[in-house]
Amino acid sequence: MKKPEKTAAASYHQHLSLLLLFLYCIFVAAEKDSVGYGYSVRSVAVDSSLKSLTAGLGLIRSSSVYGPDIQSLNLFASFETKDRLRVRITDSKKQRWEIPQEIIPRQSYCTHCWLPENRLNSPVNHQTGPGNHFLSDPTSDLVFTLHTTPFGFSVKRRSSGDILFDTSPETSHSDTFLVFKDQYIQLSSALPIERSHLYGIGEHTKKSFKLTPNDTLTLWNADLASANVDVNLYGSHPFYIDVRSPNGTTHGVLLLNSNGMDVVYTGDRISYKVTGGIIDLYFFAGPSPDSVIQQYTELIGRPAPMPYWSFGFHQCRYGYENVSDLKAVVAGYAKAGIPLEVMWTDIDYMDGYKDFTLDPINFPVNSMQNFVNTLHQNGQRYVLILDPGISVNETYGTFIRGLKADIFIKRDGVPYLGEVWPGKVYYPDFVNPAAETFWKGEIQLFRDILPMDGLWLDMNELSNFITSLPTPHSTLDDPPYKINNNGVRRPINNKTVPATALHYRNLTEYNTHNLYGLLEAKATHAALINVNGKRPFILSRSTFVGSGKYTAHWTGDNAATWNDLAYSIPSILNFGLFGIPMVGADICGFSGDTTEELCRRWIQLGAFYPFARDHSAIGTIRQELYFWDTVAATARKVLGLRYRLLPYFYTLMYEAHMKGTAVARPMFFSFPQDVKTYRIDTQFLIGKGVMVSPVLKSGAVSVDAYFPSGNWFDLFNYSNSVSLNSGKQITLDAPPDHINVHVREGNILALQGEALTTKAARKTPFHLLVVVSSKETSTGEVFLDDGEEVEMGKEAGKWSFVRFYSQMIKSNVNIRSEVLNGDFALGQKWIIDKVTFIGLEKFKRFKGYKLKTCTGRNLIKNSPVIKASVNSNAQFLTVEISKLSLLIGEEFKLDLE
Ligand code: NOJ
Repeated sequence: MKKPEKTAAASYHQHLSLLLLFLYCIFVAAEKDSVGYGYSVRSVAVDSSLKSLTAGLGLIRSSSVYGPDIQSLNLFASFETKDRLRVRITDSKKQRWEIPQEIIPRQSYCTHCWLPENRLNSPVNHQTGPGNHFLSDPTSDLVFTLHTTPFGFSVKRRSSGDILFDTSPETSHSDTFLVFKDQYIQLSSALPIERSHLYGIGEHTKKSFKLTPNDTLTLWNADLASANVDVNLYGSHPFYIDVRSPNGTTHGVLLLNSNGMDVVYTGDRISYKVTGGIIDLYFFAGPSPDSVIQQYTELIGRPAPMPYWSFGFHQCRYGYENVSDLKAVVAGYAKAGIPLEVMWTDIDYMDGYKDFTLDPINFPVNSMQNFVNTLHQNGQRYVLILDPGISVNETYGTFIRGLKADIFIKRDGVPYLGEVWPGKVYYPDFVNPAAETFWKGEIQLFRDILPMDGLWLDMNELSNFITSLPTPHSTLDDPPYKINNNGVRRPINNKTVPATALHYRNLTEYNTHNLYGLLEAKATHAALINVNGKRPFILSRSTFVGSGKYTAHWTGDNAATWNDLAYSIPSILNFGLFGIPMVGADICGFSGDTTEELCRRWIQLGAFYPFARDHSAIGTIRQELYFWDTVAATARKVLGLRYRLLPYFYTLMYEAHMKGTAVARPMFFSFPQDVKTYRIDTQFLIGKGVMVSPVLKSGAVSVDAYFPSGNWFDLFNYSNSVSLNSGKQITLDAPPDHINVHVREGNILALQGEALTTKAARKTPFHLLVVVSSKETSTGEVFLDDGEEVEMGKEAGKWSFVRFYSQMIKSNVNIRSEVLNGDFALGQKWIIDKVTFIGLEKFKRFKGYKLKTCTGRNLIKNSPVIKASVNSNAQFLTVEISKLSLLIGEEFKLDLE
């Protein structure tokens, strides 16, 4: 049969197709050349509500390092709340490791996200082709934009147009492209270098709180002493806040990923180089620093409430020799009249460093029981250390039960053998629910012998005194991309459990390594509630995103140096950002011999850490606060103020638990519009209005402190004040026994009396310190409960909350209270016996104040006494009304004129 003749039309179409094919090839080639590495957008689907978007990404050109690239990816962006935008990027074909829901609960995204077809079949607006795609929830201040050519995405603040995060690659700079391989993920965002101020990404000891450019921040939990600056330490928190000058608008960014990573900050960019998992980014809109932390902890979990007693002063030491030594320390504090709330024991108490045992010679059961009972009778507490490594010893009950329950981390099918204090150890696998049961059982058994009040979880990075050989050819033990472990790209297996070790359900240590401390704290928290029925107190060295839900933290092994004293402030402020507000550093320094002067200055600062504990290493000189007379004297003074402030600290804990906000805060939290506060890390705030300005240098008897605008009053002596219309650096006297602590106008502090224990302090009457302001209503609040209910502020009848307001109208001043659930406070018969107004401006017509009215069903037993005095620079009046008897659980109003 004769072939049909080609028609002119067919031939035209054929030519056209060829031409299109040719143009397409040129386009693809050009795309490859212009875009270089990375991915291009192949499909986009936007949800009709404009709240979520899915895009399919295809590889343009593979890169030659760190293994093969994943060919196609899925990007899913969604507004989870009006303040929270999530951007997930993962393999479109295969599910990858990500932190399980039961460890950090979060919104489940589209269930079949990794199958693009499924998304595209749902009712969406299909959009393809070049150009940008927006996701803009009208209720949110964040706008997400997907850039198709080349691929990138950005997040913008709608109200200001400020670009908060922008991953658009720079063609000349390969580090800026998205790279997605099995064991290497790279994502980078540009930052406006002059306006962006970053804080967070830990845990590291840093010389400054504000991140400084050209820094590689490595996250891989390691037992490295915190005396080492700029290296990865015990915990991992891939979260930062970005404060934008000049007005302090702040947003937060979390990369929820547990794999080892380097975060490279250059000032004009932040780049993540991650060794696995997925990209799971969360953007928190703020716009204030405080609100960012609220939004962050809404996702990761609010901080655990801490018992009231944990705000007392703690004494610990590695190297207490025996029970007599412990008793002598407790007696030393009592004799010196220095508050001591909690006595701790380090690993010394154990028999052969085995958890849940007592050294029969130096810490025998009977003596320890007597010791702890006496502490309890005196209103004091006892906390002991636990290490995760369980001694491999056939005669040791804990080991036998662990083996039987089959809860140890394994490698090559058998429990992995590490080495810590007791010698050979196996490590409980807290991923395994059975390990939680085992742990609870052991704690229960031991608590029946020794009624401890809290637990201290150490060495949980996991620490291992040996480095096991890598499994040959394993890219887990020896991954292609080497993170900057220990600052020298040391193998990730260095002195920890090897990455090829296996957890429950065959999860690898490689992926779960950074979660160990979090999981141990979670299990311990559940155990303590179970065995004690009280609010747990746990102190964990290793932490991860969400650890604050279970534990407090201390900054680990600092050194007794002036530098470490100063660095403790950035470290503590960081943990406030990370949602772990109960944090402190070893007061007087852990390693090396402290000195009288350093210890004196350290207790002055440490008295205002949220968690205040003196702790030192074995072999160092003793540093209990009574050891030197000058330290003892300063300790009485500063802990005296801390104990008067206990209701304030505790109310901040309540606020932290309800909203996530930190107890110790950077200055810019209260003054975000004052750009001069952005670099301050030698001072900090407790709550919104108490400012601590410590001496951090040897020999200094004055301190240069920055004061934001307003009237500030010395909390040790109200008549010393600083008044400024705009922020200024001031040189303050700081004699050897003194730390400067100021309260700002606009605050009302509910104080109680000094005492040697928190229990005794809670029995003293309240004193309201009202720092009046001619510009604003002064406010303050106090939360009251029994201090150790498991829940804080949840169960009806078990708590009260009182808010105070004070106004100055002309020269008249008043204070009133608003009471929520007053019954609990009434039941305790707590009274306010004194109200002090400070900061009253001296008016010409002043002749003295009298109590005009006092309303509410209050008991005014005696006639209140009113005393007025002029402060040292004759600028302000202090008016003190004493001999009051106002029930704190009932509303009242006082007017003075
Ligand atoms: C390391 C801890 O960081 C430290 O505080 C403790 O004293 C020692 N381990 C001994 O247990």
